[in-house]
Amino acid sequence: MSRHFLTIADIGDRDLAAIYEMALSPFDDTTLQGQGVALVFERPSLRTRASSSSAVSELGGFATFFSDEEIGLDTRESAEDVGRTLAQMYAICAARIRHHEVFARMASATQDQMSLINLLSDVAHPTQAVADVLTLAEHFADGHVKDLAGLKVAYVGDATNVTRSLAVALLRLGVDVTVGAPEGYQLTRGGLEDPSSLSGGGTLRLTDSAVNAVAGVDAVYTDAWVSMGFEDEAAKRRADLADFRVTTQLMDHAKPTAVLLHCLPAHRGDEITDEVLDSAASLVWRQVFHRRSAMLGVLRWIKEET
Ligand code: CP
Ligand code: NVA
Repeated sequence: MSRHFLTIADIGDRDLAAIYEMALSPFDDTTLQGQGVALVFERPSLRTRASSSSAVSELGGFATFFSDEEIGLDTRESAEDVGRTLAQMYAICAARIRHHEVFARMASATQDQMSLINLLSDVAHPTQAVADVLTLAEHFADGHVKDLAGLKVAYVGDATNVTRSLAVALLRLGVDVTVGAPEGYQLTRGGLEDPSSLSGGGTLRLTDSAVNAVAGVDAVYTDAWVSMGFEDEAAKRRADLADFRVTTQLMDHAKPTAVLLHCLPAHRGDEITDEVLDSAASLVWRQVFHRRSAMLGVLRWIKEET
């Protein structure tokens, strides 16, 4: 049975620790020798496509990219038949999909013969969370992920797929997480990547005040106000989230040493100002760098026991 990487919540503590370790340790460039990775993207991407293609190639494998138009999941043919087809030629299918439940359908249709990696769904963005943890550990803990315990991180804005995976990953490491979002955009209970279901580890606090969320924290994180698939709500979202923009004035409420994280793409002038994104506090380019590290870790972990 192949390993899958679909949410952070799915992955046990030891496996997560192994992924963080394998993200940065020296690797064997034959790990994926002769093996293919199908990269299926139902939605646009820059960082995720770049980091997954390069990590596959660095591990000795080959990647094939399939766009939404080409593959037509559940329009040209069923997700099950796409999975069955890809499993004949590829060891791994890494996919950015609209509906997370497609992963379960593909896994079942292929009897788990092909590993699946979630490259962002409506539910979670777990490879991003691995990169975010590595970035915070590099900055605050000399690269030691376990030493992040006790850190305080605030997420401000629309609580998205990115927020859920980030919060699950950080809480499990003992990081305290506060999410500042207005009504209707806050984290909700339930689902497959649910930070509110965790016990032990860090504390999760929800607030409807951006200032209250960032007060005294070590790091401030934000993401798009208009995630992919929500384009029709753009005007309403901009109005509803206007008080949650990450500005220099908001950052002033965090610790003087606080850093800024953003998964990117940034919508400068919406969720974040140029001044903050381009400031010395911004770790966004280290996050991008660690997207590749994260993919190396996830791919190596997937191949570790198969
Ligand atoms: N952060 C992220 O996933 O970026 P892309 O959408 O460009 O892949
Ligand atoms: N929440 C955003 C993340 C983009 C990387 C989206 O789903 O569009």
